[in-house]
Amino acid sequence: MLTREQNDVLTQVEGDAPMGTLMREHYWIPAALSSQIVEDGVPLRVRLLGRDFVAFRATDGRVGFLDERCPHRGTSLALARNEGCGLRCIFHGWKIDVSGKVVEVPTHSPNPDAFAAKVPVGHYPTHEGGGIIWVWLGAKEAPPFPELPFTVMPASQVWMTITKCYCNWLQGVEATIDSAHVGTLHMAYVSRDQANEPMTHALDALAPRYEVEHTPYGLDAAALRPLHDGSTYVRTTKFIMPFISFTPGGYEVPAVIFIVSPIDDMHHNLFYGAWSNHSGFNSGHGVPEEMSTVVGNLPYDPHNFGGFTSDRDHNFGQDREAMKSGHFSGFVGNLLQEDTVTQASMGPIVDRTKDHLSSSDVAIIHTQRILLEGIADVAAGRTPRGARPGMDHRDVLPVNVLRPAETDDSSQVIDYYASAK
Ligand SMILES: [Fe+2]
Repeated sequence: MLTREQNDVLTQVEGDAPMGTLMREHYWIPAALSSQIVEDGVPLRVRLLGRDFVAFRATDGRVGFLDERCPHRGTSLALARNEGCGLRCIFHGWKIDVSGKVVEVPTHSPNPDAFAAKVPVGHYPTHEGGGIIWVWLGAKEAPPFPELPFTVMPASQVWMTITKCYCNWLQGVEATIDSAHVGTLHMAYVSRDQANEPMTHALDALAPRYEVEHTPYGLDAAALRPLHDGSTYVRTTKFIMPFISFTPGGYEVPAVIFIVSPIDDMHHNLFYGAWSNHSGFNSGHGVPEEMSTVVGNLPYDPHNFGGFTSDRDHNFGQDREAMKSGHFSGFVGNLLQEDTVTQASMGPIVDRTKDHLSSSDVAIIHTQRILLEGIADVAAGRTPRGARPGMDHRDVLPVNVLRPAETDDSSQVIDYYASAK
């Protein structure tokens, strides 16, 4: 349970709110999927931390990331023509190139070039990696992008989607840390038929004991599930400050990726995907075969993967007939839809002063704690966790192991992938 003030500090990201400032000034922020913009195609409106931007892919493939409003009169550049490596505002034809310079001002005479050179444009550095366009919104010069395991892999080994979620960003992050819900909410998608897939053990013990370790990048949250034969299923989620989580997948999918990108106080985008050690994992068409267990009835849309099929007044499209037939949650769209619905059902910003946290919520408590520490670090002039210059995260991998009954030393774990081969 948090105090009202702590809940406000953790959840508010707009304007000069401390959490939004922490994110803006210290971390690259995921803005969109690379596939959402194409050369000379439709510009994409992007809202981050309560501010409005436009992203576009120029004629030569580069990404432009600008304030949404034309610096002339404020017309939305999401309406602009995307041509010749720049956006041309449809109101008076001013053109801003992909690097953020005003290059044509047809309404000004004489000396239009000199005039154009003096017009400031809000533009921001971007980095593409892992199928995601990341943006640097901080005031200081952009640091090198801290690589992640999947941002240095070939595109054929990474699958990524995006879904707009109708609640505060922290609800999204907390759900990705919360291993305890997997065996309940996602029961219909975590079938015992998946022989030997380690995640099935999440069905066998609904009250995992947590061992949480704070790390230079964030935290390791090991959910320990004692099994009937005396062994322990160890499932470790890695949390990289302030909004990236990796959870274990299965034999062929070392990690499932969850990244939360705050749109404003009441919305976030959830980037959901996975990586594999096998090329050909992502064919570019549909959900990878190795991820078929997450698939439900929802038509595949990587740009709205876990979207609702109805609104709150209609219980977000819950299918009670399917529940009568054995589906646990009634959200038959796909596994991610179960997450997006449950988080939105809490309301736009959950009131954590009213939480009654149980023993399996230890990792959530630690996540809240290190986020608050990050705020305190910035206030004290220290670099927050995970943002040290030169740091990268490409060695951060989730853990998915069975610890045999006779073993009480965690260093003697059997690598579940290795033992399966
Ligand atoms: Fe979930």
